[in-house]
Amino acid sequence: MISIAVLGYGTVGSGVVEVINTNQASINKKAAEEINIKYVLDLRDFPGDPVQDKITHDFEDIINDPEIQIVVEVMGGLHPAYEFTKRALEAGKSVCTSNKELVAQHGLELLEIAKSKDINYLFEASCGGGIPIIRPLNSSLTADEIDEITGILNGTTNYILSKMTTDGSDFDVVLKDAQDKGYAERNPEADVEGYDACRKIAILSSLAYGCHVDFSDIYTEGITKITATDIKYAKKLGYSIKLLATSKKIGDKFYAMVCPAFVGQDSPLYSVNNVFNAIFVHGNVLGDAMFYGSGAGKLPTASAVVADVVDCAKHLHRNIMMSWSSKRLELMDVKQVESRFFVRKAGSLTATLSDVEAIFGPVEPIGLADVTDEFAFITPEMNEETFKEKAKQLGGYISRIRIKD
Ligand code: HSE
Repeated sequence: MISIAVLGYGTVGSGVVEVINTNQASINKKAAEEINIKYVLDLRDFPGDPVQDKITHDFEDIINDPEIQIVVEVMGGLHPAYEFTKRALEAGKSVCTSNKELVAQHGLELLEIAKSKDINYLFEASCGGGIPIIRPLNSSLTADEIDEITGILNGTTNYILSKMTTDGSDFDVVLKDAQDKGYAERNPEADVEGYDACRKIAILSSLAYGCHVDFSDIYTEGITKITATDIKYAKKLGYSIKLLATSKKIGDKFYAMVCPAFVGQDSPLYSVNNVFNAIFVHGNVLGDAMFYGSGAGKLPTASAVVADVVDCAKHLHRNIMMSWSSKRLELMDVKQVESRFFVRKAGSLTATLSDVEAIFGPVEPIGLADVTDEFAFITPEMNEETFKEKAKQLGGYISRIRIKD
């Protein structure tokens, strides 16, 4: 029998208990051991809940119990999750987590401790919820040089953008509705400003490229400035707007970026809607692969956490090598990254198109029948720095969105 402790009885923690109880027999079979939840750490009590007799308020009960071999950290946040994880690993207990903030910030250090103790720090649930992506990157795609990962990695923003597209509503209206329905947090900043997707692409890139990608190096833009009018233009052009988290090799350098983008119908990411996540991966010998599924939510996330528990049980005294090294990946200056840009400009198309083309060269103009005081155009491909210089010269500039074909 392997005894485990679950740190945090919130959404994911209660999901972990539910998954283990629901699929107990098959999980035990796959782990080749009986998985026994011995403790659940939480500040609260849960009278009447089947876990009440396992609840402890004191982490010392867990750390000092030699029977605990695996700790599930699903508390979220950096503190005390970092301290608890570090102490558990140092005490020779493997840790499984869904905590993307902690993995992005301290993953490298925690992996090194796990390696030194011949145990494991596993975090499949930190990116893409229930979608298997960490294990494929670490174990299945090892014959490839991965040269691109582009993901829809945040369910909340994908839900908001999908709803804006179907309802024609503005961002604020859809956000409020999503908050009222419990799909978005009361404080939605980490999701809508792109910080959550940024941490996830940093984790995936660190594993895929075998070097440390620091999330604070990644250029990040959220979706708060996307409007119903942007969506109308996108629909007219046959694009969907998605919050993309990308890291890509250009020549011998990599860039990484999180930003809303126009996605064309040929992209497998075009029709990934609502809370679903998807991760497109390109390898030099594999070509294209896409991982799609439930990127958030209690049971999908718990499914990935419990799969890590099974993996830890199968590798109790053996470290599963992770290809995330301490060598820092120097990212390309985002100013040099090239795209085509969708640009909105005040004024009349017929009167000012020649001014636009004098600055940007030949563009593809677009008008909307019910919007008469502005028009939009698509630029040729150019880098961010050039675009910025040209946009400064443009009278009536309203906004821009990158196009990722
Ligand atoms: N807030 C995250 C999302 C939860 O919306 O995708 C899963 O990491």
